[in-house]
Amino acid sequence: MICIGIEGTAEKTGVGIVDSEGNILASAGKPLIPEKGGIHPREAAEHHAATIVPLINDSLNQSGLSLDDLDLVAFSRGPGLGPALRTVATAARSLSLMLKIPIVGVNHCIGHVEIGKLTTGAVDPVTLYVSGGNTQIIAYEYGRYRVFGETLDVAMGNCLDQFSRSVGLGHPGGPKVEKMAKNYSKYIELPYTVKGMDLSFSGLLTAAIRKYESGESIEDVCYSLQETAFSMLVEVTERAIAHANKREVMLCGGVAANSRLREMLATMSEEHYCEFYMPPVKYCGDNGAMIAWMGQLMHKNGLVKDIKDTGVIQKYRTDQVDVPWMKSAGK
Ligand code: ATP
Ligand code: FE2
Repeated sequence: MICIGIEGTAEKTGVGIVDSEGNILASAGKPLIPEKGGIHPREAAEHHAATIVPLINDSLNQSGLSLDDLDLVAFSRGPGLGPALRTVATAARSLSLMLKIPIVGVNHCIGHVEIGKLTTGAVDPVTLYVSGGNTQIIAYEYGRYRVFGETLDVAMGNCLDQFSRSVGLGHPGGPKVEKMAKNYSKYIELPYTVKGMDLSFSGLLTAAIRKYESGESIEDVCYSLQETAFSMLVEVTERAIAHANKREVMLCGGVAANSRLREMLATMSEEHYCEFYMPPVKYCGDNGAMIAWMGQLMHKNGLVKDIKDTGVIQKYRTDQVDVPWMKSAGK
């Protein structure tokens, strides 16, 4: 059984091919890089429309397979930008109808968790998923992945991107802020906002921009922004380990590329005798392979339904989806 997965919840198009044993046979992707400013949903959709077919061909070439070898189409049903999701769903439906193979829409956030487990060997982790559009602390409990904590406003990556654009460092902000932060000389106090198990980054973002405008050095502001935001993330992840009684921690999403965040999370994990995992960077950010692997899991568990059930869900919640494969793994 061969599954092709199409990802396109935000500005990156991804196509991957995975077999039923979880071998990743291909993964090809193309991000939309705006000349200036952020991502417009319509531009993301146009980008997907232009790149899906070439990426399907790239994936087939990488895997040495042809269209006739495909048995199942999976696509990211949400959460994400409406126009982007609809473009991806249309492409997936066309492929399904053309090849006369079943189709399944999958949850993007759970895709991150499952590709992480597949590529690292983690079994039942607390996952810190931090990207441009999402910030969630996720762990499995009673049949579903539960969101133990999440951002109440902007996502971590978006906070770094907005900061970077505001101070003239450009897009994407994460790598730029990380580089600047390395040459810091002091920590500047910034608002630290953890509410229960949830996080808020908007006050921190505004305060960091103000500090820069008031004459603090860019290096010190970048360092202080990272230290404050990442401490918040680590605090909530730490408490989730205790609540959910887990022994593994996994970091994923585009912000996982940040070495300071990895270091902080690895140290905390070690202090709690938890194993720390991070997927290869290629599978940390959005990719088609995670969607294809989700398709395989859904298929194995009898969750592939009809083409009529392929409507997109812009606010698709992580805890809206039954994950029977965790139960069958004895969890
Ligand atoms: P999603 O759809 O899951 O929200 P996304 O569209 O944001 O994903 P990703 O590739 O997962 O795409 O993440 C991109 C984000 O990762 C951007 O906000 C970027 O600034 C951030 N990022 C990339 N590298 C680093 C880094 N070294 N440090 C911090 N953040 C980083
Ligand atoms: Fe993502």
